[in-house]
Amino acid sequence: MNKLRIMSVFGTRPEAIKMCPLVKELASRPEIESLCCVTAQHRQMLDSVLEVFEVKPDWDLDIMTPRQTLSTITSKCLTGMDEAIDTLKPDMILVHGDTSTTFAGALSAFYHQVKVGHVEAGLRTYDKYSPFPEEMNRKLVSSIADLYFCPTVNNKNNLLRENITEGLFVTGNTVIDALKTTVREDYKFSTDELNHLPYGEKKIVLVTCHRRENYGEPMKNIMLALRQIAEENPEVELVYPVHLSPVVREAVDIYLRGAPRVHLIDPLPADEMHNLMARSYLVLTDSGGLQEEAPALGKPVLVMRRETERPEAVAAGTVKLCGVVQDDIVTMAERLIRDKSAYEKMAHAVNPYGDGQACRRIVDDILWYFGRREQPAEDLA
Ligand code: UD1
Ligand code: UDP
Repeated sequence: MNKLRIMSVFGTRPEAIKMCPLVKELASRPEIESLCCVTAQHRQMLDSVLEVFEVKPDWDLDIMTPRQTLSTITSKCLTGMDEAIDTLKPDMILVHGDTSTTFAGALSAFYHQVKVGHVEAGLRTYDKYSPFPEEMNRKLVSSIADLYFCPTVNNKNNLLRENITEGLFVTGNTVIDALKTTVREDYKFSTDELNHLPYGEKKIVLVTCHRRENYGEPMKNIMLALRQIAEENPEVELVYPVHLSPVVREAVDIYLRGAPRVHLIDPLPADEMHNLMARSYLVLTDSGGLQEEAPALGKPVLVMRRETERPEAVAAGTVKLCGVVQDDIVTMAERLIRDKSAYEKMAHAVNPYGDGQACRRIVDDILWYFGRREQPAEDLA
C-alpha cells in the first residue's frame, strides 16, 4: 500500500513549536510520508525553532518582509502554496491554530481539494476583532477543515455549538508534548546572561508582548506598566525577550528601555524560553502559547489582554486577565509580587491542555480517517 502523504504547513514561531513534535511523530510512522512546508511568515524566529527541534522543511516559501501586512502574508502564502501542493502532492494538509499562514494554508488546500486537518481547533473569544485577526482566521479554517484536533473538551463543545459535528477529536495541545522535550532541571542556558540571573534571591518576572490588537495605546500602557513595576519593586528582575516586530521594538525603545532591573533581550530559542519560564516567579504576557505553558510549569500568568480564548487555566486559577490599562496591570502584578498568599493561590501546576500525548493521538486519528487503523485514538479525558 502507498504511504499516506501528510504535509504539515506552518510559518510562525508558535506554530513551529507546536507542529515540530507532530512532524516528528508523523515521520516515525511506517504508513506515513511526513512532508513539511514552511511559509516563513517569520524568518529568524521560525529558523530558531526548526534548529531546536532538528526539523528540515521540504519546502520553504520564504515570504517574510519587514512590517508585512495581513494581505501580503495571505496572498504570498496562497500563491506559493500552489507549487508546493502540485509538487509534493499531499493526501492531507495539517495547519495549526490561527495565524495568516494557517488560514492561507487551509484555503490553498481547499482550492486543490486536499483534505485539511486543523490542529488546535475550536478556540474562540467570539469577538472578531480580538484577537485580531486570529479569531476570524480560526473560524474560517473551521469552515474548511475535515478533521479537528481540539486541545480540550471545551474547544470541542465550541465547535459542536457551531454545528460542526464530524471529525472532532480531543487530543490535548501539542505544546505540552514540546515542553516535555525541552524542560530539564539541569538545563544550562547558552544565552549566558540567563545563567547569571538571581534565581531564588529575586523574583524573576518573564514578559512577552506582541499582539496586533495591542498595537498603539494598549502597547504603550503595557510598556509603562512594566516600567512602573520594575521601578517600584527592587525585589523584581524583569526579563523580556523582545519580539522582532519593528512595531513592538519601537514601543519598547520609547517607553521601557533604560528602566532599572529590566533585561531587554532578543527572542530566545524555544528550549531556552521554556527553561527560563520554569525558573521564573511570574509571567506577564499577551501571548497565547505562554498561557498554556506557564500553568503546566506551575507559574502564575497575568494576561495583558481584555479576553482569552483559553479559559481553562483561568478556571483552574493559574491565569488571570489583567487587561491593558496601566493601573490595572500594575495593581495585579504588585499583588502577586508582594502578597505571598495571593501568589500561592495561583502557583500550582495545572494541565488542562494535555498530557504530552497529543501528537500520538493526532497521528492515530489520521490513520483511522484514512482506513489504516481500526480505531481512532482514545480522546483526552
Ligand atoms: C504573527 C501572527 C500571530 C502570532 C505571532 C506569533 C498573524 C497575522 N499573526 O504575528 O497570530 O501570535 O505571529 O509571534 O498571522 N519579524 C522579523 N523576524 C521574524 C519574525 C517577525 O523580522 O522572525 C518582523 C517582521 O518585520 C514582520 C513583523 O515582525 O513583518 C511582524 O510579523 P507578523 O508575522 O506579520 O506578525 P506577528 O506580530 O509576528
Ligand atoms: N517563545 C520563545 N522565545 C521567545 C518568546 C516566546 O521560544 O523569546 C515561545 C513561547 O515559549 C511559546 C511561543 O513562543 O511557546 C509563543 O509564541 P508567541 O508569543 O510569539 O505567539 P502566540 O503564542 O501568542 O501565538
